[in-house]
Amino acid sequence: MSARESAEVLKIDPAHPQPDVIKRAAAVIRAGGLVAFPTETVYGLGADALNERAVARVFQAKKRTPDAPLIVLVSDRQMLRRVAASVPPIAERLMSRFWPGPLTLTFPASSSVPAIVTGGLEGVSVRMPGNRIALELVRVSDTPIVAPSANLHGRASSISAQHVLQDLGDAIDLVLDAGKVGAGIESTILDTTQTPPKLIRRGAVSLSNIEDVVGEVAAEGASAGHHAPRGRLVVVKSGDREAVARLVRECAQRGTNVALVTRRPDLYRPDEGLTVKAMPLDVSEYAQRLFGVLRELDDSGAGCIAVEEVEEVGIGAAIMDRLRRAAERSGEAGR
Ligand code: TXA
Ligand code: MG
Repeated sequence: MSARESAEVLKIDPAHPQPDVIKRAAAVIRAGGLVAFPTETVYGLGADALNERAVARVFQAKKRTPDAPLIVLVSDRQMLRRVAASVPPIAERLMSRFWPGPLTLTFPASSSVPAIVTGGLEGVSVRMPGNRIALELVRVSDTPIVAPSANLHGRASSISAQHVLQDLGDAIDLVLDAGKVGAGIESTILDTTQTPPKLIRRGAVSLSNIEDVVGEVAAEGASAGHHAPRGRLVVVKSGDREAVARLVRECAQRGTNVALVTRRPDLYRPDEGLTVKAMPLDVSEYAQRLFGVLRELDDSGAGCIAVEEVEEVGIGAAIMDRLRRAAERSGEAGR
C-alpha cells in the first residue's frame, strides 16, 4: 500500500464538459499537478508541458524511462507556436485535414520546450485533441499539456477511468472520469521534420489517409510505445481452430489455460483448457474493447492468450501492429 492519498475523481460529461470541473482541473495543471483525462484515443496523463518539475512527476508516476519523448497537446495554432519553432508546409496540410484529431505531428521544437519533454531530441510531437474535455482543459489551462497514455509504463493504455486509477491512483492528483470514451488506439505519430515524413507510430489515423494528403511516407520501423503482457501472447488466424487446439495442448503442458480473444466465438467450445472472450465484429468497437480485455487478462494472471487477427485496413492496421509487437515482447522477464 502506498502512503500517498488516492487521486480525487471528478465525473465529467463528455458531450457537455461542465465548466467548473474543467476550471478545477486547469487550476491543478497550472499549479504543477497531474490530471488524467479522456481524449479521443485513450485516457491521457496531463501536466503543464512548460513546467519541468510537473513533467518530471509524469515520468515518476508512469515509472517511465526518462529518455522517451512525450506528446504535447495544444488547443489552437497560437499555442502551437509556443512549442514549435517552425511549421513545415507538409504539416500545414495535415493539420488542416486532421486537426483537431488523433494525428500527432513532430515539429522542430522551440527553445521554451524543456528537454525532458522532447527526450533531448530536436523535435516536439504535438496534436490538437478532438475530444472536447481534452481540448477545453488545454484551452482553459492556457498552457500546452503533455499527454502520454495514462497507464504504467509497459501496460496497455485504456479508455476506462477505473484502469487509470488502478495504475496511477496513488501517484496523481485528479482524474476526470467521463466513463468509457475514446477509440482505444493511440494517435498516429508522424515526423514532419523529415522528407518524406516518417511514420513513428501507427494509430487511429490510417497510413493511407495520410498518404492521400502528403503522398509518400517513410513507414518502415515505426515502433514507438508498446505494451508487453506478462504471459504469452500469440496471434492466430481468424477461425484457425487447429492453431488454437495446438496452443491449448502446449499451454496445458505448462499448466496454463488459453484465453482466446475472438470475433467468432461460435466456432469454439469452451472447455477445461480454453476460455473464450467474445468480441464485437465491428473493427472500431473491437479496438475500443481489445486493450481493456488484454489488460484484464494480464491482471487475472493469464499465462497464454491467443488473439485473432483482424483485417489490416484502417484502424485494423494499428491493432495488428500493436498485437504483433505485444506478441514479440510478451513474457519478457519482469516485463
Ligand atoms: O493518443 C495518444 O497519443 C495518447 C493520448 C493520451 O494523447 N498519448 C500517447 O502517448 O499515446 P505515449 O507517451 O503513451 O506514447 C507516445 C509514444 C512514446 O513511446 C513516445 O516516446 C513516442 O511515442 N514518441 C513521441 N514522439 C516521438 C518522437 N519524436 N520520436 C520517437 N518517439 C516518439
Ligand atoms: Mg503509452
